[in-house]
Amino acid sequence: MSEKKQIRAIKGVRDILPPESALWNRVEQTAHAVFATYGFGDIRLPIFEQTELFARSIGAETDVVSKEMYSFEDYEASDLVQFRNAILFWKDLPDAPGGAYGRFLPFGQQVLSFDAQANKAFEDGAIPRTPENKSMLTTLYGEAGAFSEGVQSRGDRENRQLVDALKEKLRQIRFGDALSLRPEATASVCRAYIEHGMHTLPQPVKLYYMGPMFRRERPQKGRYRQFYQIGAEVLGQSDAPAIDAELIEMLVAFFDRAGLTGTTLYVNSIGCKDCRAKYVELLRAELRKVQDKLGVDSQRRIETNPLRVLDSKIPDEQAIIEKLPRIADHLCDACRAHFAALQEQLKLRGIAYEINWRLVRGLDYYMRTTFEITAPGLGSQNAVCGGGRYDGLVELLGGPPTKGIGFAIGTDRLVLSLQESGKGDARQSLDAFIAWMGAASYPTALKLARRLRGEGFAVELPAEEMKFKKSLGLADKLGARYAVIIGEDEVASGQFTLKRLADAEQKKLNETELIEALKTR
Ligand code: HAM
Repeated sequence: MSEKKQIRAIKGVRDILPPESALWNRVEQTAHAVFATYGFGDIRLPIFEQTELFARSIGAETDVVSKEMYSFEDYEASDLVQFRNAILFWKDLPDAPGGAYGRFLPFGQQVLSFDAQANKAFEDGAIPRTPENKSMLTTLYGEAGAFSEGVQSRGDRENRQLVDALKEKLRQIRFGDALSLRPEATASVCRAYIEHGMHTLPQPVKLYYMGPMFRRERPQKGRYRQFYQIGAEVLGQSDAPAIDAELIEMLVAFFDRAGLTGTTLYVNSIGCKDCRAKYVELLRAELRKVQDKLGVDSQRRIETNPLRVLDSKIPDEQAIIEKLPRIADHLCDACRAHFAALQEQLKLRGIAYEINWRLVRGLDYYMRTTFEITAPGLGSQNAVCGGGRYDGLVELLGGPPTKGIGFAIGTDRLVLSLQESGKGDARQSLDAFIAWMGAASYPTALKLARRLRGEGFAVELPAEEMKFKKSLGLADKLGARYAVIIGEDEVASGQFTLKRLADAEQKKLNETELIEALKTR
């Protein structure tokens, strides 16, 4: 092994290798095929967006936004950032010549020079023209000037304190947009719906996506920091319960085609702005009464988001939660009717479901219908899919009043569940291994490989000549169905030896016969 430090993938982030990746492809192909039959179109979205998009949609107080996002500042003015960072590293040298002037004046001059450059960048729009930046740059100029003027009259300690205060100011300047890797994609779909004026298209607009999402969660089985979702969204003017039910029907059809069994569908309604707000207050009041019996997380959530207390998995809290008021008893008439109609629609489609009154979901945009699907073999992270209705989200992002509903499947978990149930074998099959011997047979082997691949067969052609036995051994290890043996005799006669590896049956065939033989399984 080399002595160089090995670089490994980041915690919670993994490689998906063959043959497992073949299963991923199969799952994704199934989604493309099934979703197309329900009229959904594929939307390809950016992996990063303005942080503000997620903060506004998912909610600034949620775990996802407040602690799990990978965020960064996107600099345009990188010279200026470098200059700022250099000033942040500035240290006075106690033995610098010239007393206090020599020690501290250079710092003040640098800040003033930085301020002049930053102001120009602000005017040019190279750094964000926010009110915070404007006032920061204005006060910075005054403070750096006062600092420079008074250097001589202050003691070192006082000068150093002022240096630190100015550095703190410099740290607060925003040089670029605050961006985040997407923790989910519903917000992006809504942004795209608005940005491309999709409300003018025939309604509803049905879109699906697949790809990586990023959340800084504690990694465990079925929970990763880069994970994958297959999601779908329906946006438009109608909130008919049949839309909710058809979306769930599509999910069931997809899981069926993908081979996932033993799933359970949980549904709930979390009401609308009005009835939920009243219920949340009632819940908060009831929770305050039992506050002392709850853990620290739940205690905090009584104030920040009481609904999330219902999500708690802590054993000691379960009996208390079971006695809390349930949202189903507090829905307004319209929400109650919508939930009843959804259940009718599910029954009409023969879709089995269970009501879970504690299913509140962790993202703020939901209203009315929420649902989750669990799958076996996943341990504690057993939700393979989550979704719900989010009427009003498009409006919240500056678009026209729009209804919406969608779901996202955790692809990692779906694949894991398929593997656990023994349906994960999607090994790429190798049809033929071409065992060529002697340099003279290579051109023939090459031509044959190309012809067979053209016919759609998976073919392996060794790049270098191999001993016959070793060649057949490798063919076997790779799981090839057949070996095609090409030596000098075969080149001369135009007849190839086809060996079936399962039973070692051997035949001499010409090229056309060979292709026919490979077609039979
Ligand atoms: P979500 O419940 O946050 O909803 O995520 C959906 C699914 O993604 C989960 O059920 C789970 O299978 C998977 N998932 C979430 N986090 C992780 C993780 N760290 N590791 C592995 N898998 C994970 C949403 O994201 C919503 N955007 C769904 C939606 C679409 N609602 C309406 N439209």
